[in-house]
Order: sequence, then C-alpha cells, then structure tokens
Amino acid sequence: MNKIEKIINEMTLSEKLNTLHGTSFWLFNSYKADGEGVVCSDGPNGVRKMQNSNIEEVFSPINFVKCTTFPTGSTFACSFDQNLVEKMGIALAHEFQFYKINVALGPAACIKRNPLCGRNFEYLSEDPLLSGYIAGSYIKGFESTGCGTSLKHYVANNQEYGRQVNSSNLSLKCLRDIYTKGFEIAVREGNPASIMVSYNKINGVYACENSYILEDVMRKEIGYKGLFISDWTAVNDPLKSLHAGLNVEMPERDYEEGFYEKAYKEGKIKNEDLTKHLNYYIPFIDKYSDQKELSSIDFEKHLKIAIEVAENSIVLAKNEDNFFPLNSKEEVIVIGLRARDMNYYGGGSSITNSYYKPDFVRILTDKNINFEYDSAYDDEENLNLALLEKIKNQKVLVFLGCDHQEESEGYDRKDMKLPDHQLKLMNEILKITNNVGVIVESGSVVELPFLDNIKGLFIPYFAGEGEDFALYNLIYGFANPSGKLAETWIKKYDDCPGSLTYDKDIFNSYYDEDIYVGYRYYDKYKINVNFPFGFGLSYSKFKLNLLRVAINSKDIKCEVEVTNVSETKGKEVVQLYIGKKDSNIYRVRRELVAFSKAVVYPHSKKKVVLSINYSDLRVFDPTKNKMTLEDGDYELYLCNSSRDEISVTKITLKGEKITKYDFQGPDHSLVFKENEDINLLVSSAIKTNVFKKYLTSVGLDEEKLKNTFFKDGFLKNPIRCLAGLGILKYRDVELILPEIIKELRETKK
Ligand code: BGC
Repeated sequence: MNKIEKIINEMTLSEKLNTLHGTSFWLFNSYKADGEGVVCSDGPNGVRKMQNSNIEEVFSPINFVKCTTFPTGSTFACSFDQNLVEKMGIALAHEFQFYKINVALGPAACIKRNPLCGRNFEYLSEDPLLSGYIAGSYIKGFESTGCGTSLKHYVANNQEYGRQVNSSNLSLKCLRDIYTKGFEIAVREGNPASIMVSYNKINGVYACENSYILEDVMRKEIGYKGLFISDWTAVNDPLKSLHAGLNVEMPERDYEEGFYEKAYKEGKIKNEDLTKHLNYYIPFIDKYSDQKELSSIDFEKHLKIAIEVAENSIVLAKNEDNFFPLNSKEEVIVIGLRARDMNYYGGGSSITNSYYKPDFVRILTDKNINFEYDSAYDDEENLNLALLEKIKNQKVLVFLGCDHQEESEGYDRKDMKLPDHQLKLMNEILKITNNVGVIVESGSVVELPFLDNIKGLFIPYFAGEGEDFALYNLIYGFANPSGKLAETWIKKYDDCPGSLTYDKDIFNSYYDEDIYVGYRYYDKYKINVNFPFGFGLSYSKFKLNLLRVAINSKDIKCEVEVTNVSETKGKEVVQLYIGKKDSNIYRVRRELVAFSKAVVYPHSKKKVVLSINYSDLRVFDPTKNKMTLEDGDYELYLCNSSRDEISVTKITLKGEKITKYDFQGPDHSLVFKENEDINLLVSSAIKTNVFKKYLTSVGLDEEKLKNTFFKDGFLKNPIRCLAGLGILKYRDVELILPEIIKELRETKK
C-alpha cells in the first residue's frame, strides 16, 4: 500500500467529503479533521487578501492588505521576456508567503478574443503560444518559492457578459488549436498547483462538468496531476462536476444539511470517485499547506522589480522625428488627469491596495524636470485647458486612458473608445500643435482617431505601481523601450471578427472566426491595423539574420544573429513564425512558434538560439480526433512582428499525413436558452413577487443588487451565483424556485 492509499484508508467519510468543497471563501480543507488546510487568495498581479469578508467590501482596495501592485498581464506579456516574468513571479510569491497565503489565484491566461472583454487587462495575449510560455514562466518563478498558483480561467472564458450562463460554441479544432493550447503549454512548462475552471459552458456543457477538457485534454493528454478548482460559484451541479473530474467547488455553498452524505448513501458519490479525487487532493495539501514563512516584505525592492518589468514591457508604438526620448533640459507641457491619477491596475478580483501610488507629475518634480502640468479639466470633466497658448512652442505629453474601473471582471466594455472628453481634448490640442506624444493607459485596445496627427505614442496598458518611474525612464531615455504588443491594435472595433455578435446573445457565443483569432484573422484578410501583433519600437536599430536551423529529434534549434547597428544599447525580441502553404487542413497564414529577447550592445552582434517544441507545431486533426504534426514542408519566418517578415526558410518535418479537411466553424444547431432551474437569471427571477418578497426579507432589492458590484452585470448572473456568494441562502433559493418558475410561467401566459 503506498502512502496515499494509507492516508485514504485512515480517513473518515466526512473527512473525505469535506475535501470536495472549500470552507468559507478562501480555504481548502485538510484531509484530516485537525490538519492544516491550504489558504488561497487573489490575484494575478498583487496580493488581494481581504481584511474583512463583508460582501460589500469585496472590491474595495482599503479592505485589502498592502502589497506591491505588479504590472497586469496585458503589460507583462509585452515583455516577451520569460526570465523577467519568472523573476516577477518569485517576488509576487514572497508577498503571498508573508501574508500566509499558500496559493495565489493567478495567472489569468484566457485568449483575448475580443477587445471589449472586461478582463483583457488580466489576460496575456491573443496568441496561445505567447500566453502559454509567459504564464508558464510566471508559474515557474512563483512556485519555485514553495507557494502555489491557480492558472485561470480554463477555458474559452472570453467575455464577462452573462459569464455564468453563456455557452462558448466553437469547433473542437478551434478549442484545441487556440483556446486550450496556451493552458496546455503553461501546464507543461510551469506545472501549477491548481487550475481554476471557468464559469462558462463549452458547446452547452459547463466547463466544470466538461470531462473532455478536464480528463481527456489535461489529465490524459498533458498528464496534469494538480487540482481542478472551480471559479468562485462556477459549479452548477456538484455531482456532475465531480464525475467530470473537477476536484473542488469554491467557495463553500450552503447545500441542505447532509447533502454529500446523502449523495454517498444513494451511490451518487462512489468510493472510486473519492479515491480518484483524493489522489490529486492529498499531494496538493501536503505540498502547499506546509510553507516557509517570511517575516517581512521588502517593498522597495519589489517596487524596483515592478518598475523593471514595466520598463521592459511598455510599448513604444510611434516615434516620428525621434520625438522620444525627450531632452530633460527642454521644457515639456504635460496634460491630462491620467498623468497624476494613473490607471495602473484593473478591476474586480485584480484590485489591490498598493504600497506605492504612481504619479508621473510627482516624478518630474522630484527629478527637477522643466515642465508645466495641466490636468485639462475642471471637476466635472469639462475641458478647461489653461495652457493652450503655451503648447504652440513646446513638446507636449498627453496622458489618456479609460475611466478607472471601466475594465473589470463582471462586465465588458461598451465600445473600444477613449472617453469623449479626452477625444475632445486631443482635438483641441491638435488644432494648435502636433508636436505631441501620447500615453494611453488602457487595459486593452482602444481606437486612436488622432494617431496620424501625433508624433509619439507609448502603450503601458496597466503597468502596475512602477508605471510612473518606468515611463519617466523610457520617455527621457534612461531606459530603452523593448516591449512588443501581445495583441493587434486594430483601428476600429468593426474590424474585429465576431464584433457583430459579441455580447449580443447572453446564452450563446458562436466563435465563427474559429482559429482566425487576432493576427491570425487580421493578417489573413490584410485588415489595415494601427499596430500588428509583435510590434514595438526601440531607440536602437537592429538587423536580424537566421543563420542555421537544426532539425533534431527532440526539437528544432534556430540560430539567429541580432546586430545592433546603432549607438544605443538595447533589447530586441526575436520572433519565429511558421506556416504551411500546402497543408491539407485549414490553417492560418503563419503563427508564432518561438520567441526570445536579447540585450545587444551598440555596434555588436549576439547569437540567439531559439528552440521550437514539436508539440507546439501540432494542430487538431478532426478526422482522427487528435493533435497531429502534419508531415511535409513548412515555411519558417523570421519576423519583426506578425506582419514584418525578414526572411523565410523552407524546412521539412516528419509527421503524419492529414486527410483533407476544410473549414467548418462552430455548430450553429447548438442553441441554448435560459434554464428554468437554479440557472435562471437574476433579472428574470426579480420580475416575480415571490423573489422580490424574499429579497425584501433579507434586506435586499433590485437597486441594492445592482449596486453591490459588477454594475448591473450582476443581474445577468444565474440566481445560484448570488447564493454561492452568500448574498442569499442557497437552500432558500432552492425552496422558492418552483414558485418563482410557476409565477413566471403564469405571467407569460
Ligand atoms: C474571478 C476569479 C477570482 C475569484 C476569487 C471570481 O469572480 O473570476 O478570477 O479568482 O472570483 O475572487
């Protein structure tokens, strides 16, 4: 009998059943009644440990412990720098350790399918390979400290609207080539303690009940041995979830007394189910409950790391006439609220209580820079630009950005625009001068109607608490920009495939663009974009040359020479893409297969060796129902971005023959509707007197629900979610449900 079998043998039934769910919001129970459990907490870019669990303060920063706010995923993915992300992971983990949290709920690695997704600021990229390797490095660094992670949200959770009732309807090929791929790479590279299973359905089956993604893909194909935990309140049916392979429901739900025992007695939970689950659960508790404790956090050191990550990630997207770097002796006019009240982190479970609050204007003052500042607005956001006269003769820096909390979990953005008052401001400024550099602080792509008329543009996304220092260093040339965009910056929302249907049907999202996500679509259809995927400028100039490709049995090694032909030391990202023009199966024109970042000194060369993993070259073959490396000739592209090709090299790979297979897209006969069960929407239930009366009895009403959090997105959740969060009693909801349904049916008659 091995160690785990012995432990299982000694466990009581109730100890076993207690491992199927957490306790309260953040605890995974021990497998022993008196043992240490595992404590978890958000979030991906800073510790969000709540000081009190009052539901109204769930998203209020002052309710959280002090922490370093590191750059968000949208920013650090642009570093294309695995070592740096690993280093950030270690620093982050130390803060979790200090607060005695064993597992962090991050990184978040869903694909950025649409620019309006409210959580794009947390996610990494539109490209699964980049997402996978960056998430993998984060996990590797983080877990090297003994602390655990939770890779989230698995999978195809690409919108917030109706996130707990919506079905992502997509072809299996699209699911595997795009949406599970990044998770598979991150798991292979980082082996996270847990994977958080998402809210949504996939082709009608809740992710938590989907044995294909849990068992077939992750366990059997990838060999994942960690824990599958549900996103908070994502479980629809705990028994179906258990049978599909989910390990733990989070947080604890107030099922009727003895719910699990009853299910066990009725044979709905079998000994085999428990044994299988405990084989993952026991090692998880053993490994993560026992952790080194830290006695302090070196916040100053961590701020430096946050600055370093931001500096290496922020993207210089335009630099006409060498507008940047600025000369610190020359006077500059700084305009815009966002220069002081910076947008440096996102909403929802990513909200943090930062150690340091960035303020670009304060830095300029501290550094004795010759500048004048004008917020440009009076209190009501009415334009009131006092410095209009002055800007004629000076360089101008304008800070723009969406309103705080516009980008959050729980709801999506309404459009891809910057606030009207900021566009008006830009118009006014550009009437006088175009000697203007802009900084856009947004969590995702925004339209830039003024782009042709400005000289410089920095894109920091939400770059964490070091954003002000990092921008200062980059703007004044104390650091050299090296970030590359991890997503395409399209010109207008309509250019995005799926823009016509995104967020339109709360119950169904059809992934009609299939595998043509992000640059895979924009490049195929030659859409005129502002900036392609992988694009970013530097103060240095580089030349790249693919010297050698060695096709080995384990991997493909590519040697690239990077020459810095400028006077400035800098970093360049080498990007390799692959395509297969004669493929038997539909494919994208080319896709990223390897990347690496190198420092190169002025007028010198550096050899960079990249290795391509065969596994990343596989595509899903629907005729054989598996991932396959297609046999034959491929084109290997050395590029500066998904669009800027430097050279192409033919290579031949040994693989399998694929039967001809043409594009099919999602199955449109799959149409899901509102369920007349605990998945009924709050907005429907609230129409009935029964539910209204119940809400009144617990001191709530529609207004209060709307204002609690997630804007009115909360009304677009199923009623089980309110119960799961402890806002209502689950048992009460179950009991009044038949009456709610009855009343709804009668009113419909
Ligand atoms: C979010 C997760 C988060 C969890 C716990 C959910 O609403 O989707 O990302 O980790 O809450 O706060």
